[in-house]
Amino acid sequence: MKKLFVTGGAGFIGSAFIRLVLEKMPSTSITNFDALTYAGNRDNLEDIDSAQHRFIHGDICDRAAVMSALEKNTDAIVHFAAESHVDRSIASADAFLRTNVLGTQVLLDAARARHVKRFVQISTDEVMGSLPDDDAEYFTESSPFAPNSPYAASKAAAEHLVRAAHQTFGLDTLITRCGNNYGPRQFPEKLIPLLLANALRNESIPVYGDGLNVRDWIHVDDHCRAILTVLEKGRAGNVYLIGARNPRRNLDVVLDVLHQLGKPSSLIRHVKDRSGHDRRYAIDPTKIERELGWQPAETWQSGLAKTILWYQKNSQWIERTRSGAYREYYSDQYGTELAPKAAA
Ligand code: NAD
Ligand code: DAU
Repeated sequence: MKKLFVTGGAGFIGSAFIRLVLEKMPSTSITNFDALTYAGNRDNLEDIDSAQHRFIHGDICDRAAVMSALEKNTDAIVHFAAESHVDRSIASADAFLRTNVLGTQVLLDAARARHVKRFVQISTDEVMGSLPDDDAEYFTESSPFAPNSPYAASKAAAEHLVRAAHQTFGLDTLITRCGNNYGPRQFPEKLIPLLLANALRNESIPVYGDGLNVRDWIHVDDHCRAILTVLEKGRAGNVYLIGARNPRRNLDVVLDVLHQLGKPSSLIRHVKDRSGHDRRYAIDPTKIERELGWQPAETWQSGLAKTILWYQKNSQWIERTRSGAYREYYSDQYGTELAPKAAA
């Protein structure tokens, strides 16, 4: 792969993917097309070599902007750009339909028009809904679609459009579905960075409902290595589930992090449950392991230790993301104000 077009590369996973590609394949040139929404952050790209990385500030729903940014001999589009937070989709679905559905179709059309060789859709296990509350069932590539939140429904719709582009127009497409990522540079609306940012400042940790919902956690760099593997070796038209065999209850995740930080469990505050809250996600990654030879490099312990260290060392990054509109979002979502400044 010589020339990649990455969407959403100023976000959490997209920026980690660009970093990985430039480390593993330094001669690749990357166009990073990102609208810099509240979740996009130029700070996430600070250490990336600008000779190999061209940043374009643009919206994937803007057909003309996409067409002018996408060069003819592009090897692949890796499509991360999305509205990605379930709670925000419950508050209002508009931006989710616009970016996740319409934006994906704009990119598929552009890929065909520019004869792009591969299209990788970064999707989510949430399109398959919720598993029963026991440990017996796992998501596989043949699990049916059953999205329960507006976010999940918009990502499912995007997958259908990608499939249709393959079936109808013969576009070389791949779809990856991963579980919950954690790691450096994740916007602190998601559980682990919110928990770390709050705990480091001795602020309370909101846990939805009984806290026994299960999520399947993976370090962001393992997710990115899996995407790169799919991009290079995946079979056109296929879906690949990505997971590190690491399902955990939310309360156990919170207690684990508080323990590592030496903070008391009394920081936990049980709050009103999320509407339509999926109970359990658990991924069977056998297909990507057997067919493409991918394996995660991080354990939960090693990945979490690195993540905690990053947030401890990057308090300025946290302060910047928690300023402005985030404070309003936080008080609307949790009915409580954040402390005016770091008290740690
Ligand atoms: P994020 O919210 O951190 O970043 C999203 C990025 O997309 C931001 O940089 C934002 O500016 C950009 N963006 C949003 N709307 C845009 C538009 N209209 N045009 C151009 N750019 C736009 O998201 P993330 O957590 O890094 O997730 C990336 C992708 O991975 C998403 O597609 C998400 O559905 C998927 N995913 C995420 C997880 C997870 O745990 N975070 C797990 C599985 C799949
Ligand atoms: O499974 C993959 C998905 O994981 C991705 O597709 C999404 O983009 C990503 O946001 C994530 O979705 P979740 O809804 O699972 O992640 P979130 O971090 O919001 O929540 C994780 C769990 O923690 C979930 O059960 C809700 C709970 N939670 C979350 C927050 C923000 C809390 O208990 N308290 C909170 O304050």
